[in-house]
This record gives sequence, C-alpha cells and structure tokens, in this order.
Amino acid sequence: MPAAYQKYLAEVLIDEAALQARITQLGEQINRDYAECADLLLLCILKGGVMFLTDLSRHIHVPHMIDFMAASSYGVGARKTAGSVRIDMDLTMDVRGKHVLVVEDIIDSGHTLAFVLKTLRSRQPASLRLCALLNKQSRREVALDVDYIGFEIENKFVFGYGLDLDERFRNLRFVAVANTAALTDA
Ligand code: IMP
Ligand code: MG
Repeated sequence: MPAAYQKYLAEVLIDEAALQARITQLGEQINRDYAECADLLLLCILKGGVMFLTDLSRHIHVPHMIDFMAASSYGVGARKTAGSVRIDMDLTMDVRGKHVLVVEDIIDSGHTLAFVLKTLRSRQPASLRLCALLNKQSRREVALDVDYIGFEIENKFVFGYGLDLDERFRNLRFVAVANTAALTDA
C-alpha cells in the first residue's frame, strides 16, 4: 500500500541526506559564531520549526537553552499569508540580556517573522538573529535580515520535515513539493 502522503507528493525537493548535511554545516557555523557566548537561546517557532530545532540543536556544542513560541498569520485562506500576525503562545523565558537565535522552518512573505522579531526586540535581548531552514526569497513582502539559511527554494508549496499539509505529514524526513492538483481535497 502506498504511504498516505504519496498522492500529495509531486517530488522530493530535499532528501534526508541533504537536509542533515546542511544542518550539520549550519551547526558548525553557529558554533563558530557563538563560540564565546554564555547565554545562547535557541527560540523555535512552532510548529514547523520543531524538527529543524531538534536536529540543529544536537549539532550545536555551545551550551544553550531552548524555548518555543507559536505565531500565526491570519486573514486569508488557509495556505496564504496575510499581513496580520498574532502570538498564539509566548515563550516562557525572559529574553533580556540573552543571545537569541530564532529557529524557523520557512520564510515566505516574511510577515510572521517580522512581527515575531519586533516583539522580541522590544524585550531587549543582547542580540537577535534568525536561522531559517528554507527561504522563498521571491515571495518576500517585508525586508528581513536572515543570518542563516538552509536552502533557498522556489515559490512552490512544500511539506515534510516540520512543514505541514493541513497539519499532517510534519514527521517526514524529507521536504517535498506538494501536488497542487491533489491539494483541493487535502
Ligand atoms: P510568512 O509569514 O509568509 O513568511 O509565512 C511563514 C509561515 O507560513 C511559515 O512559518 C509556515 O508555517 C507557513 N508556510 C509558508 N510557506 C509554506 C509552505 O510552502 N509549506 C508549509 N508551510 C508554509
Ligand atoms: Mg504551517
């Protein structure tokens, strides 16, 4: 029997080996950049960033804390992004004086992260940087400085490795392009 996700899969965009190789590199880069840092906080943006966070964190040898925050864009259809963002779940830690590295699955229009970064900045962290596994630069509507990018991708809807298709298939070990013809009944 084919796996349940097969009918939504147009192609595997980034396989497990490529993901893990790139995440290892990002970890090494972060280890160098934060080598002297005593108060590093990896802040995962839920839910999509969770697979990336757990893998990335295990490549970071600088002692660090982890915390979670959930944000969502709303106002347009389920797979679109509007200019309005809200914080659904705030992190538990005080970021003041900490070196915060935001870990996100994908940056599309940039609205979600622009809002999250603005909120965090007002709480006066010692530094604030951004690490995204995937970046759709062609879709950007607001300017964002992304410090670490795993992969630059085209404007296609992707799922797997934290990213969902109507809340499903976040558990896949690879990133796949969704078959848009099958999506209407997803
Ligand atoms: P932005 O605010 O437009 O940058 O949207 C960012 C959020 O939209 C991400 O955190 C994802 O949850 C979601 N998103 C954007 N593109 C995709 C995609 O191709 N697949 C799955 N989720 C996506
Ligand atoms: Mg999502």
